Amino acid sequence: MHSAFAATPTSPVIPITFTTKATWPDISAALPPSARTFAAANGFTAKPGAWLALPDADGGLAQILFGIDDDSARHRDPFRVGQLPGLLPPGTYRFANMPGDGRLATLAFALGCYRFGRYRKNETSDVRLVPPDGIDMADISRMAEAATLARDLINTPANDMGPKQLAQAAKSLADRFGADFSCIVGDDLIKQNFPLIHAVGMASTRAPRLIDLTWGEPSHPKVTLVGKGVCFDTGGVDLKPSSGMLIMKKDMGGAANVLALALMIMDAKLKVRLRVLIPAVENAVAGNAFRPLDIFKSRKGPTVEIGNTDAEGRLVLADALAFADEEKPELLIDLGTLTGAARVALGPELPPFYTNDEDLALDVARCATEQNDPLWRLPLWAPYDAWLNSKVADINNAPSGGFAGSITCALFLQRFVEAAQSWLHVDIYGWTPSAKPGRPEGGECQAARAIYALLSQRYG
Ligand code: BES
Ligand code: MN
Ligand code: ZN
Repeated sequence: MHSAFAATPTSPVIPITFTTKATWPDISAALPPSARTFAAANGFTAKPGAWLALPDADGGLAQILFGIDDDSARHRDPFRVGQLPGLLPPGTYRFANMPGDGRLATLAFALGCYRFGRYRKNETSDVRLVPPDGIDMADISRMAEAATLARDLINTPANDMGPKQLAQAAKSLADRFGADFSCIVGDDLIKQNFPLIHAVGMASTRAPRLIDLTWGEPSHPKVTLVGKGVCFDTGGVDLKPSSGMLIMKKDMGGAANVLALALMIMDAKLKVRLRVLIPAVENAVAGNAFRPLDIFKSRKGPTVEIGNTDAEGRLVLADALAFADEEKPELLIDLGTLTGAARVALGPELPPFYTNDEDLALDVARCATEQNDPLWRLPLWAPYDAWLNSKVADINNAPSGGFAGSITCALFLQRFVEAAQSWLHVDIYGWTPSAKPGRPEGGECQAARAIYALLSQRYG
């Protein structure tokens, strides 16, 4: 079980009582008189997010009160409970009552226990929760573990998370679940016809590679996941300003999230033949870097003119998607931190997704809401496809003008998908800029839980 949960109930276990402004009078009336006086003296009025530790007769910890939103709230955060691990003293707790959706509250508690402890001692949470009754803890635990994996991979700085280390992370996941693992490295990318992955990654001293993991019964439906694994994005010769470059260690967020998704799929033993493809590169600056207006022939065939070396994610995904498409998967999914435009349109918490499969779109939107892993559909708006035209090559990677940047990126990728029965593309942000309940600042698991829920409904 995920480490946020108490394996065997230890004593004492401190109850947490959830209260809204509306339920507070009743809850307060049921408290021992001294506790009621204590709460009143502390001015506790069950404001959402407010908490209070009630003492017992000996001055020990008797219970926790925590204010949550009621129906009248403008926004009721299903992850509100995820605030608690950051507030509570070390110890083991249980829910005395259920705060709305108990499953999401339990998950939020685990997600709120996350600390990035790789570079500093004592960065661990010593708050534990006794699993509430009636909740599928195996499912919650694998979601929490997957989120931890994605966050750790994203938070690890680029000096310790290059293409090779990303491949190692995929390899350990493959080993754990008995999946096949292979990797095409450096100049072999040219020999095996991945010219765009090579072009983007060749300027780095850390060789580019294509990570390839397969798992599951060959007779099961083929589900293929492709994740953008740009370990650091300087922008290349079209160098980013330092403000835009600062958090570009997160540019492998797509890769981190497909690995998180793969973890859940394999742990739950979904009935799929899973494949994970990650083009892992560093978009660096050097004398041998690719340049604006260079032209490369892609794996699929069309020639690609480089309008901007900073539009590198769609380049590496193009070759990986074309490769994935060759075995005609039933479902092809790619995740990547592809455009600043996605964040401008919808902000960091609401990644846009794209598909022409109407049933899939409905399922994605529903699962996103159910899992509190928000996603919002944007269109593959065909009239804008012409913006990708180049005057000298078959396609340009960066339309001038910059209108609808996330849509034109999706349209670029669509040119490389043809045989897959159904294709889903998600332009994630992969990062929480400032902490929210259950979502600490830094690398974030996005889209993986929603898609896992969808896949478990289809292939569970
Ligand atoms: N990795 C970035 C996208 C990004 C930037 C995501 C900031 C989140 C925050 C991507 O490689 C990129 O640089 N995209 C360019 C595309 C443009 C040159 C067509 C962008 O969005 O500016
Ligand atoms: Mn870029
Ligand atoms: Zn990028």
